[in-house]
Amino acid sequence: MDYENLVKLANDIKKNAYAPYSNFHVGAALIGNSGKVYTGVNIENSSYGATICAERTAICKAISEGEKSIKAIAIASDSEDYTFPCGICRQVILEFADKDLVILCSNNNGKYKVFSLNDFLPNAFVFEK
Ligand code: THU
Repeated sequence: MDYENLVKLANDIKKNAYAPYSNFHVGAALIGNSGKVYTGVNIENSSYGATICAERTAICKAISEGEKSIKAIAIASDSEDYTFPCGICRQVILEFADKDLVILCSNNNGKYKVFSLNDFLPNAFVFEK
């Protein structure tokens, strides 16, 4: 799947976001190492800290289906600004990132910018396995 369609998928899936508290609907779509595509949405909770972001929902789906790494991940929201992954998601993306992983950040006009993980998480914390 090309970048443009991955962004479209992230944008389409955000209708399923469960965001009654923030009313900020986020969708994510990723390509796993197998080539399969997985989507995710943010899922909020009345205990706010239990909220899971769209990116991590998609990553949990992919890893639990047997993917080992991520080649690309797209993020979409209703905002006219480009939506960037939060700090926790940056660290979780790092855990499963292919060396050349790309992060596609889009705005509500369907425009997107292509980033590397290093753009968002330089000098990242890693711990030897
Ligand atoms: N959110 C995401 O889903 N992804 C991000 O990268 C940023 C934040 C969600 C979490 C919460 O449901 C809402 O956006 C407002 O923070």
